[in-house]
Amino acid sequence: MRTRPLKVALLGCGVVGSEVARIMTTHADDLAARIGAPVELAGVAVRRPSKVREGIDPALVTSDATALVKRGDIDVVVEVIGGIEPARSLITTAFEHGASVVSANKALLAQDGAALHAAAGQHGKDLYYEAAVAGAIPLIRPLRESLAGDKINRVMGIVNGTTNFILDKMDSTGAGYQEALDEATALGYAEADPTADVEGFDAAAKAAILAGIAFHTRVRLDDVYREGMTEVTAADFASAKEMGCTIKLLAICERAEDGGSVTARVHPAMIPLTHPLASVRGAYNAVFVESDAAGQLMFYGPGAGGSPTASAVLGDLVAVCRNRLSGATGPGESAYAALPVSPMGDVVTRYHISLDVADKPGVLAQVATVFAEHGVSIDTVRQQGKDGEASLVVVTHRASDASLSGTVEALRKLDTVRGVASIMRVEGE
Ligand code: HSE
Repeated sequence: MRTRPLKVALLGCGVVGSEVARIMTTHADDLAARIGAPVELAGVAVRRPSKVREGIDPALVTSDATALVKRGDIDVVVEVIGGIEPARSLITTAFEHGASVVSANKALLAQDGAALHAAAGQHGKDLYYEAAVAGAIPLIRPLRESLAGDKINRVMGIVNGTTNFILDKMDSTGAGYQEALDEATALGYAEADPTADVEGFDAAAKAAILAGIAFHTRVRLDDVYREGMTEVTAADFASAKEMGCTIKLLAICERAEDGGSVTARVHPAMIPLTHPLASVRGAYNAVFVESDAAGQLMFYGPGAGGSPTASAVLGDLVAVCRNRLSGATGPGESAYAALPVSPMGDVVTRYHISLDVADKPGVLAQVATVFAEHGVSIDTVRQQGKDGEASLVVVTHRASDASLSGTVEALRKLDTVRGVASIMRVEGE
């Protein structure tokens, strides 16, 4: 074994960073044996260097992250500060000064992955980011490496634990959105400002990263259609149950049936209770992958938290260190397919539509005509009447999202339709 250690700079020492430092220390011998050289924590950049950090030598702590990545003797920079800046500049500077990078930064990868990969390639360095998507779950490496000989057609997952916790609570207790969110906040799953999670921004960044890798195509955050889950109601769950479904916030990356384009989207959807993703409870994440040769694969585990995320970071750290020692680099960006990313209107899906209508002759025929005029075929209709009013639940066959949303717009204009109580896509059948 080489005795000269590989030097690691840690950028950020919060929930994840402190766990990375702890595991580097407690597993030092095993890591050295697995890598073939010791790894040494050579510096830790933080915003508040005066804060006491258990297990971290204060002499290593600095507030000058730029000076740390510019040192020239750093082999690997581990970036766990998140956000776009200063993370982006620090990563670029790290490559320029000879380091490889391990990052957990989904927002940055989703926005600027191509440029960061280019910078890594230009300097012959590695950029690894297993922790950016679904915490501890091995996903980036299986997609990038294990499935590199297959053709992936769909990646569909629950990639946000906070929202899965909230939806699971609503499902199991009948609670409304706000009540379930309050519980998620009290238990520390939801942040004080939950916008990034509940509005689907976090999941959309992960969808962009997964779609890019799965389809060998650049997919940026802006390419991902996004709907949050704040409008999901207890009534939606009741409807889902009647159909033998539950509701999940899904990130769905798909190759079009003709193979000529791809789509990426995040929105709440009903899925059958028989689908493997339906049984993902609490704050867990899971990603369901469908490919030509392998068929259906499911990756499941904790998608957040200090220790699980640190596990993914450490796995990358070992891989990058091994590459350093052998003088190799791992896989870089693979975007050769360069498929166009189609808009949401082109996505083929099914809708569950719940309408409040007048209960009188001809209403059902009127409603059915609107579907027919938009080329949307109805799968099932369920009606329940009371005091001259009725609730009409229509589930469609597969059609383009543009046709389906056009249908809903036209239904809203019918005098006999008092209101559209809920619209939800149905997936996984
Ligand atoms: N806030 C995310 C979640 C974890 O709830 O899953 C970090 O991406």
